[in-house]
Amino acid sequence: GKNENLIASDIPAILEYTRDVYFLNNGEIAVVKKDEVMLYDEVLNPVNRDVFTVEWDVSQAEKAGYPHFMLKEIEEQPRALADTLNPRVKDGEINFDEIGIDDAMLAGIRKITIIACGTAYHASYVGKYIIERFARVPVEVEIASEFRYKNPIIDQDNFVIVVSQSGETADTIAALREAKSRGAFVLAIANVVGSTIAREADKVLYTRAGLEIAVASTKAYTTQLMALYMFALKLAYAKGGITKEEYHTYVAELQKVPENAEKVIQNKELLQKFAYEHFTEHSVFYIGRGLDYAMAMEGSLKLKEISYIHSEAYAGGELKHGTIALVEEGTLVVAVLTQGDLIEKCLSNVKEVTSRGAVVMVVTQEKYQDLVKDVADKIVTVPDAIDFEATITSIIPMQIFAYYMSVQKGCDVDKPRNLAKSVTVE
Ligand code: G6P
Repeated sequence: GKNENLIASDIPAILEYTRDVYFLNNGEIAVVKKDEVMLYDEVLNPVNRDVFTVEWDVSQAEKAGYPHFMLKEIEEQPRALADTLNPRVKDGEINFDEIGIDDAMLAGIRKITIIACGTAYHASYVGKYIIERFARVPVEVEIASEFRYKNPIIDQDNFVIVVSQSGETADTIAALREAKSRGAFVLAIANVVGSTIAREADKVLYTRAGLEIAVASTKAYTTQLMALYMFALKLAYAKGGITKEEYHTYVAELQKVPENAEKVIQNKELLQKFAYEHFTEHSVFYIGRGLDYAMAMEGSLKLKEISYIHSEAYAGGELKHGTIALVEEGTLVVAVLTQGDLIEKCLSNVKEVTSRGAVVMVVTQEKYQDLVKDVADKIVTVPDAIDFEATITSIIPMQIFAYYMSVQKGCDVDKPRNLAKSVTVE
């Protein structure tokens, strides 16, 4: 700072006073005086470190007229998605020069493990679907806290991706170290520049969501999806899983996502109305198949985190193996039906719940509205896209719905009880 120096556990705390920071590594010591900072390693050798200048501006740490950070962050998604994608598109293809990953390296990948917690874990699931479908590389998705204690089968043949908004989640850091100690190459998809995960991974693909303050993740999640789509398409092309023409088409379609996200946000009054009609629910089920199941998991998490309404996500075909016993007259079921090849199948699951009296809210693409209108009590549409790329916009109505449910219930939207933004302990 000016005529002062400050010590903090995270950047937003000091952003008002300075943008120049030193990051400390484990075991390092800082001697901080009014006009001097000296760094030492654990045996007191002086450490020379460059000052890191934070690019966020202070307005990102303020609500800027919004009632809650969560709503502000939901509405920042078009910008965040464009910032994550556009600088990495060159001649219609994904360019990772900045990250240091080229097609030859990608072509050599034979198996992938994606490790994360919470919302980032749900993003990882989407990554698995699209990588396996287009690049035909087998992908395991692991919860970081499980991975670290299971004596994982991992070696130098594994390409590991850790996904983390904060880059400081204790379990994800431990999993990263475990994977590295077994010889795996680790790519981090992280949002916070200079965070522990970003520093310790072999390479980093930064999401450019900017500062996310609300505990319930929104723009970090959709930018994680964007990063995983970019990686998956680049990998698929390097592996020969898609043609050049398909590659260009899919990348061009990704570039439409920010604009489509904006259209969904403009429709938020409808979701506010639905929330007003449903905020007294005790239990809400989310169903979907394939990519829609991954979206259902995240939609359900959003609702429970901030409105404290019990909620579960189920793969549509799995309902009849238990959960359907809980569906009764008036139970709200959110059905995510954005994937043309699975709509027919999932519609039969929707009929299973409507015949037991459930009220069904369907999230679908405009082009599939007619297919679902006979079974849906409420329909929320997102703009048409190539099906597998409709996921990024399809989560936004569920974020907005959860937000208004929480507001209606009078909950603390940005700081829900018992939860923390960054879980730096086990
Ligand atoms: C906490 C947050 C979640 C987040 C998870 C993983 O539970 O409340 O929003 O998804 O940690 O955090 P990370 O920073 O690793 O993405």
